[in-house]
Amino acid sequence: MADTLAAAAVVPLLRGRFGSPYLYAPSCESTQRLLGGDLPEGAVAVCEEQTAGRGRLGRAWEAPAATSILCSVLLRPPAGRPAELSLLGGLAAAATVERALARPCAVKWPNDVLVEARKVAGVLGELRGETVVLGIGLNVNQRAAELPAAPRTPAASLFALDGVYRPRAPLLADLVGELEERYARWLGEGLGAFAAELEARDFLRGRRVTVDGLRGVADGIAADGRLVLLTESSRRLVASGDVTVEG
Ligand code: BTN
Repeated sequence: MADTLAAAAVVPLLRGRFGSPYLYAPSCESTQRLLGGDLPEGAVAVCEEQTAGRGRLGRAWEAPAATSILCSVLLRPPAGRPAELSLLGGLAAAATVERALARPCAVKWPNDVLVEARKVAGVLGELRGETVVLGIGLNVNQRAAELPAAPRTPAASLFALDGVYRPRAPLLADLVGELEERYARWLGEGLGAFAAELEARDFLRGRRVTVDGLRGVADGIAADGRLVLLTESSRRLVASGDVTVEG
């Protein structure tokens, strides 16, 4: 069967309640726009190609058709906190990538998923009223030349890293399952339950960074998901921002 993320390929692999319903479009503007607020929690939207894929901070997210995972999940958390959910999405993507690639995978706060300092996935959390739409883009089979030129964090795909072409459906099912497990745990225990996982995957810890003009050394992720930054004069907690790693 051709590599596809159509329902017939993915739904039989799903192991929980997420992915019901599973909305598939060969092409769409953005999977973020496919999930109306009337859908139940766990609804998943997927496509092969986005014509106006969105990244954080108003950036675009681009991938050639049928080369990557482009998905959005509808969540109805008790009280918003989309920033924490973006971290969960990053951890879920990192676990999925690490299993597939058998190489360590890190999370660069707040939402980048890195292998060998190259970005393989990104997460976009959008708060809409009482729902959060969590979008995840994961680079799977793009050749190196098909990856976007990124000025700061270079991009990679699993294929560009190890030369292995992978069917995407099992990866997507794995990703959805990893997210569902973490979300259930987060509902019961909060972000504190992920402190060890966040610390183990923290790409920025100990690095000299600039966050929207504020310079310092990253010193981990606080219990509420904020970045801890040690500046020359104080310990700051950063809620959101664009991180540049120096050197
Ligand atoms: C980022 O790193 O800036 C976040 C990228 C998020 C991209 C995904 S792809 C699926 C979903 N639909 C979108 O338009 N964006 C997210």
